[in-house]
Amino acid sequence: MSTDMGGPALRADQNDDLSHTRIMLSRLAANWPRRAYVKKDELDPFFEAGRPGEQGAPGKEDFLEGLLPFKDLPQYQSSSPEMKSRVLSCGWLMYNAKTTQIETEIVNPSCLDIIAGAMPGLRTADAQKAVCETMVDEAYHVHLVEQASRLTRSRRGLENLHIPQFNLVRHMRERQRTGTDPWHGQMVQFATAVVSEIFISDYLHLLSESEEIQPFNRMTVAAHRHDEMVHSPLFRSMAQLFSHDLTVEQRAAFADVLAEPVVWFADRELDIWLSMLRQIGFPKAEEMIRECRSLGAADLTSLDYSEIVTLAEEIGLLDSAAARDSFARQGLITA
Ligand SMILES: [Fe+2]
Ligand SMILES: [Fe+2]
Repeated sequence: MSTDMGGPALRADQNDDLSHTRIMLSRLAANWPRRAYVKKDELDPFFEAGRPGEQGAPGKEDFLEGLLPFKDLPQYQSSSPEMKSRVLSCGWLMYNAKTTQIETEIVNPSCLDIIAGAMPGLRTADAQKAVCETMVDEAYHVHLVEQASRLTRSRRGLENLHIPQFNLVRHMRERQRTGTDPWHGQMVQFATAVVSEIFISDYLHLLSESEEIQPFNRMTVAAHRHDEMVHSPLFRSMAQLFSHDLTVEQRAAFADVLAEPVVWFADRELDIWLSMLRQIGFPKAEEMIRECRSLGAADLTSLDYSEIVTLAEEIGLLDSAAARDSFARQGLITA
């Protein structure tokens, strides 16, 4: 038996979940004007007297050493304090560039597909409203993050540092090219957006509360996270509504893809690190990154991916053996 949209019949508990999801989506959309950061006063990079001014807070770095993939390696440990500080500024700029690429290359293009009516299950007024609001949020986040990066580049003399495309985006593009019809590309884009939107709050969490880093950097990340705490449940809901309205074949394809962006998100982006380290003249950059590569391109231990597995279970994607295989292949569940 199938639904009128061609998808498989649902269990009674899944039907209950679906009405709960529709109510939640409607509430999230309705609360946006009161909640969104774009509606609040803008952060001031040179905020008030007695606190950091144009030169920033003395003695505070731009980024957390604990987030560097090579923090324990001797090449980094033996570098000068000035070089370490420069590497941390690169880490902050890279972190921001990844955020901007997630917004501009992954999330907002998927929102455009939804607004164009290309994504099943997401053509309702509430879904469309929530997605329009999300696009405003994401465009505002790009403004916040790029403002913070410009300030850092100017303070630290890193105006010309070039940051290439992230593997997260490259992997998504390659996977999009494995299908022949446009829907495949849109589905891969949506799966990558769902995973990114679920992970980004965690990605932002550590810096959003750190007293060790420049206060303006912390405030920028905290402002962004404020909105992302809502995007995460929103995209979980949209994944459920989307999945429900797919045909059996489309659902199987979605289930097959959904685990992959988890590993793409966990990529340690060592090519970008190597490029930046070379640009700032870090001694033995190649040797240090070679050692990092031997530890693996992606670090799944840095991510709590249980939410993706739970989502796949809740929306019934893991009912199929092929989907379980795909999740097992990516190391997210045991076979
Ligand atoms: Fe965002
Ligand atoms: Fe978001």
